[in-house]
Amino acid sequence: MYRIITSVCLLFFLSACSDKVSETSQKNNNQKSNLTSEEIFTHGVASGDPLEDAVILWTRVNTIDRAAVVRWEISDQPDFSNIVRGGNMSTSAASDFTIKVDATKLLPGTKYYYRFIFAGVSSVVGQTKTLSTDTERTALAIVSCSNYEFGYFNAYNKIATTELDAVVHLGDYIYEYQQGVYGDSTFVRKHQPDAELISLEDYRTRYAQYRTDEALQKAHQMHPFIMIWDDHEIANNAYVDGAQNHQEDEGDYMARKRAAKKAYYEWQPIRDQPNGELYRKFSFGNNVDLLMLDERYTGREEPSNTVEGADKERTMLGQKQYNWFTYNLKQSNATWKIIGNQVIFSPTDLSLVRPEDPINLDAWDGYAYERDKIINHLNSEDIKNTIFITGDTHASWAFEVPSDIKTYKETPNSCAVEIGTPSITSSNWNESTEDQKVLMAEGAIKAMNPHLDFVNGRDHGYAVIILEKEGASAQWFYSENIKIKEAAVTLAHEVKIIKDTQKIK
Ligand SMILES: [Fe+2]
Repeated sequence: MYRIITSVCLLFFLSACSDKVSETSQKNNNQKSNLTSEEIFTHGVASGDPLEDAVILWTRVNTIDRAAVVRWEISDQPDFSNIVRGGNMSTSAASDFTIKVDATKLLPGTKYYYRFIFAGVSSVVGQTKTLSTDTERTALAIVSCSNYEFGYFNAYNKIATTELDAVVHLGDYIYEYQQGVYGDSTFVRKHQPDAELISLEDYRTRYAQYRTDEALQKAHQMHPFIMIWDDHEIANNAYVDGAQNHQEDEGDYMARKRAAKKAYYEWQPIRDQPNGELYRKFSFGNNVDLLMLDERYTGREEPSNTVEGADKERTMLGQKQYNWFTYNLKQSNATWKIIGNQVIFSPTDLSLVRPEDPINLDAWDGYAYERDKIINHLNSEDIKNTIFITGDTHASWAFEVPSDIKTYKETPNSCAVEIGTPSITSSNWNESTEDQKVLMAEGAIKAMNPHLDFVNGRDHGYAVIILEKEGASAQWFYSENIKIKEAAVTLAHEVKIIKDTQKIK
């Protein structure tokens, strides 16, 4: 196992769109193409970063033209009988022929339908939803770690057919490795390009490949995504100015990082932030404040490579993001404070199963100084109903985050709850060890960590959290078989989170 939490992960805008529905079509729209919708809009449609009055709409066009003008339309009716906003937007090779529109002046808590039209051909119709200003129930799917070479993205199929307010993607949306380096070599799907991603073109090609996956396209088509990157969007175990999987002969790391970030912004339905950073906040009325943290590229210092060094003063967030985070936690009037968190926050003693490597230095255990400051903030400000949602580990977890780890066993006070989502496909713990050994390891980890309520390193899938006025719950959905396309994905486990207690039942 003991890939458990290790390195492999355990692990421009274009010109502004017109503001109102244009009555005149552009030249490109008048010339009906002989191509089908699937041939033009090969990578589907997507929406993301919903606000109360706006949402990002995304697509990409396949064209041999040097530039293209694409029409977009958004409606409150599935048949587009009432188009509430629309316009034309240009794209070119400079942005890899992707289109991103910030559709504004929408109504809160409303379901919308959107489509794109190019050369007289319409894309599929996407569905999206703005954030509600007045809600007592919020349902979020939590996903991470979808490696194309390990299996089919069956979890995304299930998500596409589920009623949700949004899908929160915690990163490792793509993997940067060369074909066959980190994947199932017996499986039919092979990474493109057949090389580790270094250049802008490399990253674009990999996103294009992932976005041909039908299940992923469907999930994007049916729900707005709220996304953050983890390490594999650039390179394994990345930090501000380096990564475990970046070597000197691969060129300048900062150039690689710029290329990866540009491709990410081109290909994902993400709104540019005024401060240029990716950490940001979403408010679902007074029910939920979702704080999405960037734990890789904003402030993370290089981790310690020894357990002894883990307690040293070291930042994962950087001072600016730390200040933003703690300020927003304290100021929040929402019932639930949800933290989009890439790596495990709770202390996790792995000494019984991994004595040579008893804590995960890439996770918050390697940044204990800053974690203690956050825990002290939650305690001293009496901030209740904080839930960390976490990816990265290719395993399911439910923790109570101890107010004080040293006294938790005798006095089990907790300052937050943490819910870990399994991987969509990336290697589970039992893919290199027998199931029985993994079951024993799960038992040992539970025995060493009394604040751990649930752990499963054997199943792929995703989690859902449902946040209501009187309480919350977390559910884990597992795929029966990721090697079989469209295999069933079913509910396997559920916990309740008791309001105002930071306790799991
Ligand atoms: Fe991962």
